[in-house]
Amino acid sequence: MQRHIQWFPGHMAKAYRSIKEHLKLVDVVVELLDARIPYSSSNPVIDELISSKPRIIVLNKCDLADEKFTQQWVKFYKDKGFTAIPVDALTGKGCRQLTLSLENAASPKIKALAAKGIINRPVRAMILGIPNVGKSSLINRLLGTATVKTGDKPGVTRGKQWIKISKNLELLDTPGVLWPKLDNQKIALRLAMTGAINDEVYDYEYVSLCLVDFLRLNYAQGLAERYKLNLPIPENNEEVLQTIGKKRGCLQAGGIVDLEKARRILFTEFRGGKLGPITLDIKFTNEELTDELLDINNNDTESQ
Ligand code: G4P
Repeated sequence: MQRHIQWFPGHMAKAYRSIKEHLKLVDVVVELLDARIPYSSSNPVIDELISSKPRIIVLNKCDLADEKFTQQWVKFYKDKGFTAIPVDALTGKGCRQLTLSLENAASPKIKALAAKGIINRPVRAMILGIPNVGKSSLINRLLGTATVKTGDKPGVTRGKQWIKISKNLELLDTPGVLWPKLDNQKIALRLAMTGAINDEVYDYEYVSLCLVDFLRLNYAQGLAERYKLNLPIPENNEEVLQTIGKKRGCLQAGGIVDLEKARRILFTEFRGGKLGPITLDIKFTNEELTDELLDINNNDTESQ
């Protein structure tokens, strides 16, 4: 187990090739980000991959994110010329706006096809995003409201499934899996906290202390309410975890707090939104993302 988070989903080159192949089939791309960590769940390789194709950004899991920051992220992307839509793939919130935006983004292409005599060709789109960001959930949600799942068609690569979302929109049912940017430790930490990377590959203890630190500094109220802590919350993060453990009865023989159990409770409840809506990327560029999470307890963290 190491403090420096290193994890790579295998077959990156293969995934990259497969995405490139699929991209040839679509008119517009949905870049799926986690609304709690829009910056950390993005991957700049997408710019190179999709080049000139229209792109709609989806801030998924918006139910778990802090609305105030979600709105700031929407504006951040708008200023860059992108449409960004907060979505909750579990309830379908934002999905209607997404389908309309996709149709809108692809309309120049559809008009160009119509001018060549190809009429009523639906818009074709695909979803790209890192593991666990909610690609399958979004597809299922869109499929749930869709009328038909279309299957192979003349003129479409055999084996590709198109989900007919509306008469104007079809979605490729194979999402593109992008790899997260784990070479940047500020980002890796945020991915670990939200559960985007496997708990087995990083120092659970260290990341839990970082999470306590972040919550104490930015969401003290939610943390205090959930675990009945007194405000102000003590600065010693380990002490906070001890208290959480005690409050939840995580005690071993001799009354010693089972910190491992306390960590699991904190992670599970944070990830499940039980501490209230929380955004971890509260700054907008790598330079602005603070190092505070890496500096706690004078740990000798490796820099990015
Ligand atoms: P992926 O295809 O990109 O890998 O992601 P997937 O859809 O499998 O979603 C990963 C996890 O995120 C799932 O939870 C899913 O339920 C959850 N999820 C997806 N979209 C949303 C959303 O908008 N809001 C919230 N709150 N959760 C979302 P899981 O616990 O791993 O699986 P499950 O037990 O819920 O199926």
